[in-house]
Amino acid sequence: MKRRDFLRQGLGITSGLMAATQAPFAFAKSDASGFSNSISQRNDFNLPAIEEGQTVRGKQVFKLTLQQGQTRILADTTTETIGINQNFLAPVLRMKKGQTVKMEVTNKLDEIAALHWHGMVLPATEDGGPHQAIEPNTTWIAEWKVLNEPSTLFYHSHTHNQTGQQVWRGLGGQMQIVDEDRDADLGIPHQYGIDDYPVILMDRAFEETGEFYYNNSRMDKMQGMHGDVMLVNGVPNSVLKPKKTLVRLRLHNASNARFYHLEFSDNRPFQLIATDGGLLEKPTKLRQIRLAPAERAEILVDLSDRKPITLKSIKGYGNLSRGMMGGNNASHLDQDFDLLHLDSSQSEQSSAFKRTQLVTFPDWSKVQVAKTRLMKLEMQMGPRMMFGSGGFTINGQAMDMNVINEVTHANTFEIWELQNPSTMHHPFHIHNTQFRVLDRDGKAPYPWEHGFKDTVTVHSKETVRILFPTGPYKNNNTPYMYHCHILEHEDAGMMGQFTVV
Ligand code: C2O
Ligand code: CU
Ligand code: CU
Repeated sequence: MKRRDFLRQGLGITSGLMAATQAPFAFAKSDASGFSNSISQRNDFNLPAIEEGQTVRGKQVFKLTLQQGQTRILADTTTETIGINQNFLAPVLRMKKGQTVKMEVTNKLDEIAALHWHGMVLPATEDGGPHQAIEPNTTWIAEWKVLNEPSTLFYHSHTHNQTGQQVWRGLGGQMQIVDEDRDADLGIPHQYGIDDYPVILMDRAFEETGEFYYNNSRMDKMQGMHGDVMLVNGVPNSVLKPKKTLVRLRLHNASNARFYHLEFSDNRPFQLIATDGGLLEKPTKLRQIRLAPAERAEILVDLSDRKPITLKSIKGYGNLSRGMMGGNNASHLDQDFDLLHLDSSQSEQSSAFKRTQLVTFPDWSKVQVAKTRLMKLEMQMGPRMMFGSGGFTINGQAMDMNVINEVTHANTFEIWELQNPSTMHHPFHIHNTQFRVLDRDGKAPYPWEHGFKDTVTVHSKETVRILFPTGPYKNNNTPYMYHCHILEHEDAGMMGQFTVV
């Protein structure tokens, strides 16, 4: 029996294998009453290390080593993992707009790898996509000037056909472009680990042996890999005891395939202040937010009532049984989970957040649109899907390293019309840009999609239009990628290449 099957049957109880060893953490289910059950089985919040680089001749130099090791993720066993400067996952890379950063990425794994800076505007040769593969025991250097606005980005493996398994094993982390002076002016919490916390969400499945379960069966490929152990910054069932009562949480869906519908256990409101590309014009009061794989959202949560609360994912948004996805095979794609407990009983009182205006967006209402393109995200069902290797395409073509699918022009704007005739939701991502979501089937985007984005969900049977700048960098030969960010779909071919010339 695979451990994930066991876990699926054994949620919230200790029996069988688990009882035979020792009770691991409790998979505390719905817990509206607070911290009543099994406090002792909860883990401390894991605050990732920060890496800010060394200043060398005016550049910020980051030394990043891809390495492997063993990690105690579950209480009763260790797991073979990979990571960046650590055995599992990665430090938070912090940088500032205007800095020139130099990434020295050394691959100490015994397999080929690539490391991509998701959300960043940068030359195609520095992008870290599948064309910048790093052979074992070699170093790849990427250098660029940070043009992006302060924001929460994502760096992760982007190895040709191997992205899903490498991210699953640990090759990913958060990047932050920070501006502490600006945040101080706006009254936004910005002290890392005091009132500003990364909350990196991922789910994992385990074998009975304690190793990660990662299977490229056709069903897993089709659904995308899901697990039933929820991790925040690599740790299950953890409790954050923030130092202050007004906290900024940088929510970051780093899962391979899971969609989250997030809310707090008491349904309290929070302020959304930033999306993938940075601050919103105005904070938006919400009680729930949805994050597809690779999406980020910065929220401010007021904990001054000091009630224990839990950040939860509520079922209803997963890639659940539609059409042929039916049966209990798909039920694990869409479940309720507790993600992170917040205990503010000892937190120092912060002053309330009052700003109603944050930044002003550039006016894109009158920009010249150089080109409108249609992107059709398809999963071909039938024999080719079930028994062949293909089936995942954009505009009928599967990813081919030797084919440039689209050619765009630098310093222009384009509208892409994303159509999803398939039975699953696909989070669509474009490299080297931050876009605006124009509409969903002609209607307004969600309230949490009004800012700059680099990833947007295209629901089954839906059409989403986005508007974006192609950026300043030209290169005839080296392409950027656009793709579904369900990593198993990306690996299976739902990806294309474009150049900016
Ligand atoms: Cu987050 Cu092409 O990737
Ligand atoms: Cu990307
Ligand atoms: Cu997809």
